[in-house]
Amino acid sequence: MLVALLPGDGIGPEVITQARRVLDALAIDGLVFEEALVGGAAYKATGHPLPADTLALAKRADAILFGAVGDPDCDALERHLRPEQAILGLRKELSLFANLRPATLFPELADASALRPEVASQIDMVIVRELNGDVYFGEKGMRKTATGKREGYDIMSYDEDEVRRIARVGFETAMARDKKLCSVDKANVLETSQLWRDVVIETHAEYPEVALSHMYVDNCAMQLVRNPGQFDVIVTGNLFGDILSDQASMCAGSIGMLPSASLDAAQKGLYEPIHGSAPDIAGQGKANPLATILSAAMMLRYSLGLPEQADRIEAAVAKALSGGARSPDLGGTHSTREMGDAVLAALT
Ligand code: NAD
Ligand code: IPM
Ligand code: MN
Repeated sequence: MLVALLPGDGIGPEVITQARRVLDALAIDGLVFEEALVGGAAYKATGHPLPADTLALAKRADAILFGAVGDPDCDALERHLRPEQAILGLRKELSLFANLRPATLFPELADASALRPEVASQIDMVIVRELNGDVYFGEKGMRKTATGKREGYDIMSYDEDEVRRIARVGFETAMARDKKLCSVDKANVLETSQLWRDVVIETHAEYPEVALSHMYVDNCAMQLVRNPGQFDVIVTGNLFGDILSDQASMCAGSIGMLPSASLDAAQKGLYEPIHGSAPDIAGQGKANPLATILSAAMMLRYSLGLPEQADRIEAAVAKALSGGARSPDLGGTHSTREMGDAVLAALT
């Protein structure tokens, strides 16, 4: 089993180091790692954020563990050379269309949530975010209007097949949980969303046991902080899912806590924390590595067929938190490495 390790930029390498220590401690037979450059680090070394070698490794590997990309030094580059193109390129090239972002509150973290503990304690949801389409991948550009003004544009679109395949992932995810699916869109304004809603309703016929509801994205943003416990599974498009999952992370304590899996149709996957390269804290040992460690657990469960090992990691994270491990984002003083130490010590 080959795992491609892509640490990337900023805190990416710091959090990946801790996830690697945890994976090494499990001593899984036949698990091997190969590391490659990605993002700003790759651009600086090779002139491209997603070098051909890195893409080839990602394609060859059984799974990918990814840190984060993004570097303020690169923000003025032409868009196709920016670090973020690496993660977008991997998602597209590998057809990783289904992004699962579980948001659960570890009970020990009720005090770290931005919400009152009694509201926060109800959080247990999965956001299913479409990852290969939407305004992210439509035609985009800068042009001059007839009167000479600068105009930027990004075309938002989904075709029905793209919606159907992610809707099925949403329904399947709900079938394995509490059988409640909320589809989030902006059908009151956007044609893209009207098609989304129509196709989700059609797909519901394949999953009659699931209770389906629909919500506009602005209301959803409000409901996530009013009563997050109402959600079981949310299915939504690329842009709305990006925004709502950052918001859900803070309900669950910190953006440093939320892992993710980005899967293709055959469960091959890329696993990464939902956060970015956090340039404001990079190199200071302040990053919370738990989202990445929990992403490694998702990798073992979904792509490598090792659910017991995934359970071991998740139990160790819970135990480390019970024992008081808290990085600064969780209100404590543990360094990135000390958070890793606490998880290692809790592994049984
Ligand atoms: P960010 O997620 O990097 O950081 C937002 C805030 O959360 C910052 O204050 C940061 O310090 C904090 N934070 C993030 N992760 C943390 C962790 N593990 N522990 C403690 N605190 C944490 O988002 P941003 O600042 O908007 O973006 C920074 C760069 O990262 C940009 O270049 C952006 O494009 C990129 N980015 C990349 C990914 C990815 O690689 N998948 C995801 C999001 C953002
Ligand atoms: C994420 C990030 C990415 C996204 C960026 C870096 C392209 O915010 O993984 O959530 O918008 O998908
Ligand atoms: Mn994001």
